[in-house]
Amino acid sequence: MMEKPKILDTRHIPQAGLDVLREACEVELNPDDHKFTPEELRQRVADKEGLVCLLTDTIDDALLAAGPRLKVVSNVAVGFDNVDVKAATKRGIVVCNTPGVLTETTADLTWALLMAVARRLVEGDRFVRADEFKEWLPMLLLGGDIFGKTLGIIGMGRIGTGMARRAAGFEMRILYHDAVRNTAAEREYRAEFVSLRDLLQQSDFVTVHVPLLPETRHLISRDELTLMKPTAYLINTSRGPVVDEAALVEALRERRIAGAGLDVYEDEPDLAPGLAELENTVLLPHLGSASVETRDKMATLAAENCLAVLAGKHPPHAVNPEVLG
Ligand code: GLV
Repeated sequence: MMEKPKILDTRHIPQAGLDVLREACEVELNPDDHKFTPEELRQRVADKEGLVCLLTDTIDDALLAAGPRLKVVSNVAVGFDNVDVKAATKRGIVVCNTPGVLTETTADLTWALLMAVARRLVEGDRFVRADEFKEWLPMLLLGGDIFGKTLGIIGMGRIGTGMARRAAGFEMRILYHDAVRNTAAEREYRAEFVSLRDLLQQSDFVTVHVPLLPETRHLISRDELTLMKPTAYLINTSRGPVVDEAALVEALRERRIAGAGLDVYEDEPDLAPGLAELENTVLLPHLGSASVETRDKMATLAAENCLAVLAGKHPPHAVNPEVLG
């Protein structure tokens, strides 16, 4: 009998994914689910052909060099900014991700964040629990309206389009900006393609759905925040470094924008100084795709990606398919 290929799964993932991996691989687990140090990771990939990893694992050239038998790096995430894809390609290693299965779940969470910050849900909850709710008052915890307002979507990919789909039900005007036009979204949701400047100036809600790339780092910085309306909200469920968090804290503190809903942070899991003290923010611990069903699907897809490459086949989602020829 042929020996099963060895793979490393860096953290606990849903059983559904593990079951798929175990059909064809010998899986090394992380029994106490601690974050491997770079040194631990390097040691553990030394004899592995596959790596199933998370967005919190830094997969750089030094790590890839430590795994001479590696054929595949399968990220349990749609984003893959934690992986040096160029280095992997050079070494003939396929990098895979999990797009599609998390689109609606992430758009749901983004929508929840948008509504929570605009209608001050978290402040309201704290208020009730602190036993401060004594009577209905005309001026108590007033927020901003959502229905009929203007939503600005930066990045009209899968998740951005999911936001347009939801916004259509709230009869919102939908503006978007992207490096490429999305004519399907224009047609289906009457989304209007505008410059970033126009989007920032006209939107009541600005929501960010771009991948983290050198070109998108600090896409929203001081100048961009200054263009926003003082009544507008910024929502970010993409990657933290897309927003200059220190500039955002300043804008929020000075009430140059009304509020922010964040699921991701520039130096995750740390927060920029002052962010946690601001009332006009809702802060979540990177929960975009965190539903039971979706995490099962992500783990399963990551496992299928990994097995396909190890079997010499094209995986469902490779980000550097050129490696496979
Ligand atoms: C989560 O952030 C993902 O990229 O899937």
